[in-house]
Amino acid sequence: MTIPAAPQTAFKNANNNYSLNPPALVQSRRNAVPKISRRSAQKVPTRWRKEVERILINDRQIARRIRQVSREIERDFAGREMVVVSLLNGTVMFLADLIRNLSLPLRLDFIGVSSYGAGTESGALVFTKELRLDVCGRDVLLVDDILDTGKTLARVLDKLTALRPQRIRTCVLLNKAARRVEPVQADYVGFEIPDEFVVGYGLDFAERYRNLPFVGVLHPHVYKREVQRANVGAGTV
Ligand code: PRP
Repeated sequence: MTIPAAPQTAFKNANNNYSLNPPALVQSRRNAVPKISRRSAQKVPTRWRKEVERILINDRQIARRIRQVSREIERDFAGREMVVVSLLNGTVMFLADLIRNLSLPLRLDFIGVSSYGAGTESGALVFTKELRLDVCGRDVLLVDDILDTGKTLARVLDKLTALRPQRIRTCVLLNKAARRVEPVQADYVGFEIPDEFVVGYGLDFAERYRNLPFVGVLHPHVYKREVQRANVGAGTV
């Protein structure tokens, strides 16, 4: 029996001819990344008012920005099939909204990674789920919810690079540049945010608040209480 040759993807080049070689990934012109200030006019829903100090980015701002970022990604990845690699658990909402806005062929996989540490500081990184799809020779879009110290993205980028993808682009909803420790930058950024403890739209504190439809600032009394509890449990107080 003759084994049929594997189908190959043809790419249209700048002269409108088809080639089996993928075109260079040309990054499109970017919309300016919105900078979010400390003030927000929108009231926190009554249910969350005791825990959430204020709304930093509301659901409509998130939706509008995701549509813009999706158009940039579509332009950059046109004619190519990408593997979207999303980091668990914080990307749950962002990823769902992002990929439903992407009119591109894509495959989806997840890496589970968590920084376990008391309170608001990142601790040691632990991988809780490994990638299953083969990304060797593929275009990868790595998605995370927030780029903070950069430790997570730096570590995951090392891991992915070792799998020899054709190229990797990174996409984060939030960039907290003030806290950066590792020299990592994202190719697509939803919002530049100030150095405040944010929760909601997938982001947690002690695994709570991921279900909020907005990004809000946590009341300091909430995390101070938790950090105290953690310290008492660990016998450090
Ligand atoms: C959060 C967030 C990012 C990471 C960013 O993950 O989802 O992946 O921290 O922080 P960094 O830039 O300082 O490394 P976390 O470990 O809290 O796990 P989660 O996604 O399950 O919330």
